Formats: sequence, structure tokens, C-alpha cells
Amino acid sequence: MAGSVAPGHRAKQAQMHDAGSPEFRLVRTQRLNDITLVHTGTLTQKTSKFNCVCFDLYRLRAYRQKLGSGGIPYMGSCTGDNMSITNFRSADAVSDRSAGAQAVTPKKTFQTLQEKKQAGRPITALTAYDYSTARLVDEAGVDMILVGDSLAMVVMGYDSTLPVTMDEMLHHTRAVRRAVRHGIVVADMPYGSYHVSVADGVANAARFIKEAGAEAVKVEGGAARCELVERLRDAEIPVVCHLGLTPQAVHRMGGYKVQGKTLAAAEELARDARMLEAAGAVAIVLEGMPREVAAIITSQLQIPTIGIGAGPDCDGQILVFHDLVNLSFSRPAKFVRQYGDAAALFRTAIEGYVHDVEERSFPDESESYHLSKEVTDVLKAQEVTDALRAPVTASKTHLIRKA
Ligand code: KIV
Repeated sequence: MAGSVAPGHRAKQAQMHDAGSPEFRLVRTQRLNDITLVHTGTLTQKTSKFNCVCFDLYRLRAYRQKLGSGGIPYMGSCTGDNMSITNFRSADAVSDRSAGAQAVTPKKTFQTLQEKKQAGRPITALTAYDYSTARLVDEAGVDMILVGDSLAMVVMGYDSTLPVTMDEMLHHTRAVRRAVRHGIVVADMPYGSYHVSVADGVANAARFIKEAGAEAVKVEGGAARCELVERLRDAEIPVVCHLGLTPQAVHRMGGYKVQGKTLAAAEELARDARMLEAAGAVAIVLEGMPREVAAIITSQLQIPTIGIGAGPDCDGQILVFHDLVNLSFSRPAKFVRQYGDAAALFRTAIEGYVHDVEERSFPDESESYHLSKEVTDVLKAQEVTDALRAPVTASKTHLIRKA
């Protein structure tokens, strides 16, 4: 339908929407530069139920101003200036960018993860921190994409996750949001953003949803987080919890150490997991604990567990993207499996570039722009050629102006 609507008609429809027509809402569509008006007014008429009209953003510049951070359309709709329903079509099929316009892949939700747990199908999760890697991760079909505070270490070069700020996490979450069509985007709440008060935690979590397009937030910690989890649930913010080796507690733990190794510690982890589930968590990341403990917790919960360094019996697995592709510049932990060597790939590419520039073999003819033959001929024929080649002096500027 996109191409069949005349631009004038499109503009008219846009005006209708601008005027606050309750019958249309904007959604993001298949192609990066498109936005779509979805007709929602006459649901009784089967044929017009999804009467989509696509707009080219380049033609309808005015709409740009209405795009939220990250180009997420959130202009006034039948539900008000609320970007949540215009941001992604959670239950709808979304076009698969990598597989061509006709292919559709369902948008994943926490219900998808729940169904996977029930069906015994492993959940896949990975971190991503920027547009390009998030696109690759999403196009590979990863269920949950975490904008982890591990970016403090692997992207920003800090030696712990503690220094990263709300604004920095929001910035990266927006970049990931722009890339992801199918996976669930979860934003990690940075240290200090939910530790001072529950009210602070809810307000900061809402920023991830409202300003960065996250679909859920993740918080570290056990029973002490129950009140926050309840309040987030009440605020309609899905929350993923994180138990075991929780990097924000590095000082309390005395280093990055496997947790839950004694009976008492294992029991405490299992109790915390049950309490967080009761408080409303939608999933729990289990990090750095014996596989036996993770297996017990997983079997006791209705919600999915996603393990990292917690063995194969969790409902899913997550890794830090940079560990997966050898970009962490550190000795990999025991639980990391490297599936590629991006460091070697990038190093070879960068060294090749440096070599070619120094050797003057880059750029070559095919990588250069050229004047047309006509212009070249004129240039050759005219004295202006000399003027262009020669250093510009006051006495010759008239030649250039003439050209
Ligand atoms: O910040 C992060 O990347 C994480 C994962 C390791 C779960 O919390």
C-alpha cells in the first residue's frame, strides 16, 4: 500500500493526524526512513482494519520534529502524547529487515520468553551498546538485548561498572533502540540510580522507557530490591532482576567472585529469587554461581532464568557481546566462549589501511571522484587550468573568478 498513495493524499492524512484525529496512530515501519499511520478507527470494517499509509520521512520533514529521541515516532495519537504504543508493535508481526520485505518475524515480548520456558526452548540474550552491533544481534534472532552497564568496562574503559551514569546509559539505550526490531530491549539501571530511594529508582526507570524506548529495566540485588520491583510493576515497567555475582556489589563481595557456594548462601539466593518473582520480576539473570544452584532456582521459578556463568540448566543464556567476539582486552572468564575474533579482524583491517595510506596505494583511481570528460576538456583547453594548479596569489584570483 505504501507506494500507491499520492503524496498530496499523504500530506492530507498527516494533517488529519496532526489535528488530533483519533483514528490514526503512528508506528515505526519496515524501512528506517518510513513512518506509518495505522488506521484504528473502524475496526468493524474488516478491510480497513489495518489501512496503512506510509510516509517518506524525507518528504515529510515536518514529521521529523515529532520524532522522539532515536527517531522513535511518538507524536500525538489516539492515546495522547505517549510513545509506548507508537514505538513498536509488540504483539504484531514486524517485517524482517534482513530477510526481505515480505518476511515477517514476530516481535518478541516477555510472554515469548515465558512460552519458551514452558516449552523447554532456550532463551537467547546478548548485550549490545550501539546501533551497528545491536542490529547484528537483533538480525541474528536474539530474544533479549541488554544494554548492560558492562558498557562502562567494555566500551568506556573503566575497571568496574560503577562509574557509568544515567545519561550515558540512556544515550546507549537510544542507539540500541534505533536498531532493534524484534528482540526485547532491556536497559540496565546503573549503580546509584536506584540505590538512594525507591522513588528515585522508579523515576529513573521511567526515563529508560520514556526517553530511550527500553521495554524493561534490569536491577541487581536480592530481597532488598523487592519493594522497588513491586513499585516498578505498579508503574507498568517490566523488571528483570539479577542475582549472584552482581558486579555493582564488587566492593561488598570483595572482588568478582562466584557466589552461592555454601549451603546457606545457596539457600539465600534461592529465597531471594522466589521473593523477586513474587514481587513481580519478569525474569532473573543468574550470574556467577554453581550450576547446581542455578538449576534449583530455575526449577523453583515460573519466570525464566537467564544464566551467565551459571551453567546450562538456566532457561536461557546471556553473554557480554565484547566477550563473545574477543573485544574485551582481558583474559576471558571461565564461562565465556568466544565465537569470533573481532580483535584480529579489526587489527588486520586497521593495519592494512595504515599501510596503504603510508604507501600511497589508498585511495586509488577507482576510489576517487572524477570530473566529467567535458569539464576536463574545457579545463585543459583554458588558461584557468594553470590558475587552478598554481598557488593562488592576489594577481591571479581574477582567473579563478572568471572560471
Ligand atoms: O551489564 C551486563 O552486561 C550484565 C550482564 C552480564 C548480565 O549485567
